[in-house]
Amino acid sequence: MSEGLVTAAYIGAIVLFILTLGGLSHQESARKGNVYGIIGMTLAILATVFGPEVSSNLHIIIITMLVGGTIGIILAKKVEMTQMPELVAILHSLVGLAAVLVGYVNFMGESSLLGVEKTIHEIEIYVGVLIGAVTFSGSVIAFGKLSGKIGGNPLMLPARHWLNLGLLVASIYFCYDFVHQGHIDGGNAIVPLMIMTGIALLFGIHMVMAIGGADMPVVVSMLNSYSGWAASATGFMLGNDLLIVVGALVGSSGAILSYIMCRAMNRNFISVIAGGFGTDTGGGSSDGEIVDQGEVVPIDTDEVAALLTDAKEVMIIPGYGMAVAQAQHTVNEITKVLRDKKINVRFGIHPVAGRMPGHMNVLLAEARVPYDVVFEMDEINDDFPDIDVSIIIGANDIVNPSAQDDPNSPIAGMPVMECWKGNTTIVLKRGMATGYAGVQNPLFFKENTRMYFGDAKESLDAVLKVITSG
Ligand code: TAP
Repeated sequence: MSEGLVTAAYIGAIVLFILTLGGLSHQESARKGNVYGIIGMTLAILATVFGPEVSSNLHIIIITMLVGGTIGIILAKKVEMTQMPELVAILHSLVGLAAVLVGYVNFMGESSLLGVEKTIHEIEIYVGVLIGAVTFSGSVIAFGKLSGKIGGNPLMLPARHWLNLGLLVASIYFCYDFVHQGHIDGGNAIVPLMIMTGIALLFGIHMVMAIGGADMPVVVSMLNSYSGWAASATGFMLGNDLLIVVGALVGSSGAILSYIMCRAMNRNFISVIAGGFGTDTGGGSSDGEIVDQGEVVPIDTDEVAALLTDAKEVMIIPGYGMAVAQAQHTVNEITKVLRDKKINVRFGIHPVAGRMPGHMNVLLAEARVPYDVVFEMDEINDDFPDIDVSIIIGANDIVNPSAQDDPNSPIAGMPVMECWKGNTTIVLKRGMATGYAGVQNPLFFKENTRMYFGDAKESLDAVLKVITSG
């Protein structure tokens, strides 16, 4: 394939990736966005593989792609929807690792560059390895935290901000040393490069370990952004324009998403990355320890069915438990029945419900819940005083009033769905376990809350049976 053709294919792929991002910003166009992404990626891979750079090693590339592709297919088929965030995290780590390896290969390869151009190339290598190593180790820790292999509590080392600052200053010094060694005869530039790699790996681990469970959504999107910049840095090292542009697209969209997440959770971005926002006080009354909050009032299937069918205004608030139970299809069936009875049913979606951005929207779209009854938290949070019944399906942190009432709570300050302001709240969950942030929820003990215990799908199937037969 000629260079001109490769460039044309790359431009086509870039346009398709931009269309992908545009498509993914709305539920209605998300599928089309995905298709653009698939076509763009196929074009990009074909143009790269059959382009002038790799024509002599084609067999190695094809074998590697077959191995990687097979692993990818097996993983994608095996992974449960609830495990997606950790899969995404571990995939980000591979982007980081690739940037590190490309950096080292570039460093060790022959280069005819001299003077300023050599310095620029060396800085590209250094920055590429730095971002790649932070992304790699940070993503591995994020994977551990999201999959529950590492505890969710933030690691609060003494003087941790000074430690971070020290690592940053050391990285800048070793950058100078790396470039300097590269320009003197007999210089040993690999030593500062390796020391910095170690520092960056440590920094990635420390950064994510210091972040509490409640702030993990920001970390996921932040690492998404880092992986984009790591890919972009790889593009600079390899002189590949497509990788530079696509990396920048991922990097900037990830950064925007992190900002949106921070706003949704009322967090300061810098405080989140600096670690443990809101937990400096060491946790207050609601920090995991069991505090007697009174009795909960359980409710049975017939009572739930009666409350729902007698209501005029119903608000459904789905959370992570709906994803675990795969209850979305039953939720849709119940919605249809209630709407046929002229009951106004709406969905309230918290921005960090579930375990990944847009998690609930994806599930509801899969179950074909009409888009016009699905609302963002900001759009409906003021409407709760007019709601007859709010039904909370496997949600916990996003409906926790202590975010507003307890300044010592790890989720203090996070906006939550104010369902307790409605007439009755029905909470579906299996027991009294805490949610992701590991904090108790006073909502369950409120006077107008009823606990409907059991797996959300089984419980809702039973309710559906009653309301369709009645
Ligand atoms: P959580 O606070 O995690 O609560 C989920 C609840 O679902 C649990 O208390 C659990 O209680 C219940 N549950 C689990 N399986 C169930 C089943 N089969 N049937 C019925 N209930 C079930 O979820 P949330 O309210 O959606 O809040 C999301 C949390 O995840 C936030 O803290 C957020 O910061 C964090 N997070 C979000 C993201 C993104 S980007 N969305 C990423 C990482 C972390 P039982 O065990 O008692 O049933």
